[in-house]
Amino acid sequence: MLCSVSLSLLAVATTAHAACSRAFLQEATAAYLQAQSVGKVGILALTSNVSYAENNTPIDIQKGVISEAIAIDFNRSIYDTVQCATFTELTATQQHPYVIHTRILYSDEKIRAIESVVTDTGDWAFNATGHLYWTKQEVWDPIPEGKRDSRAVLQAAGDAYLDQWGAPSLAVPLGTPCARLEGGFYTASTGSTLQANTCKMGAFPQPLKVGDRRYIIDEELGAVDIFNGFPWLEQSKPANYSTPSSNLFKVHEGLIRYIHEITVCATPRCGL
Ligand SMILES: *[C@@H]1O[C@H](CO)[C@@H](O)[C@H](O)[C@H]1NC(C)=O
Ligand SMILES: *[C@@H]1O[C@H](CO)[C@@H](O)[C@H](O)[C@H]1NC(C)=O
Ligand SMILES: *[C@@H]1O[C@H](CO)[C@@H](O)[C@H](O)[C@H]1NC(C)=O
Ligand SMILES: *[C@@H]1O[C@H](CO)[C@@H](O)[C@H](O)[C@H]1NC(C)=O
Repeated sequence: MLCSVSLSLLAVATTAHAACSRAFLQEATAAYLQAQSVGKVGILALTSNVSYAENNTPIDIQKGVISEAIAIDFNRSIYDTVQCATFTELTATQQHPYVIHTRILYSDEKIRAIESVVTDTGDWAFNATGHLYWTKQEVWDPIPEGKRDSRAVLQAAGDAYLDQWGAPSLAVPLGTPCARLEGGFYTASTGSTLQANTCKMGAFPQPLKVGDRRYIIDEELGAVDIFNGFPWLEQSKPANYSTPSSNLFKVHEGLIRYIHEITVCATPRCGL
């Protein structure tokens, strides 16, 4: 008896249990993109007590960016069937240029929480035209079955990248090549020419502790997004201020291939 109990606990611990289907999450994401395109959150299935936050601050969903019609030039999403949650990045270059990262959590096929990191002019390295230009060229294909990394490996890759800012000697599993799209700026690119590049970073003037991490993980795409609080950057705030930030990673066989980072500034270009 004892033996079978511990075996079943072990099975729970090692087998990621899907809380909802990929097909449901894909359909729900298409609905979210449609709602965002027309600025009508009312067309979505929301729980009665849905929570809505932008840049780490809870706000009225009717006053949020989701209630604003946005002409979306490009979007990419990842699907977390274990958490029943999605992540979407959208790029808009027209009336009001934006790059927006959004996490949506579902319960019983309804949205129970939406939170976004919303960047626009004045935010860190913001350039929606640049973002669009580079993101469109990247290949985010599904990873063939049998070559997929586990959730733990994907999360560890993203965490290592963020942890390294606080511990410069920490090894980060960066692939070769590896490209980082930071706001609209692409690493190791000159003009419009994409070069063999790298995501290696120099050390910060002081070690940074990146907290408040919230994950969305997609084993099929080999992707993980981490909403987080980035300290130190914002010059108008104390060094421990948590700047709303999101890092999206595409990982191939344990190694990081692409990183997208967006960071919200409280003052233009965070005062730098
Ligand atoms: C989102 O991207 C997909 C292609 O990946 C496209 O088919 C769809 O039309 C886009 N949605 C919006 C609202 O732009
Ligand atoms: C929202 O409502 C659901 C269902 O009634 C409940 O389980 C959940 O705890 C509520 N969440 C909040 C944040 O109040
Ligand atoms: C934004 O990116 C585009 C495309 O890479 C580039 O042509 C443009 O000069 C950039 N704008 C700024 C203000 O850096
Ligand atoms: C940040 O640092 C200030 C002192 O500079 C301190 O008063 C405050 O409690 C700290 N906040 C957090 C969230 O650690």
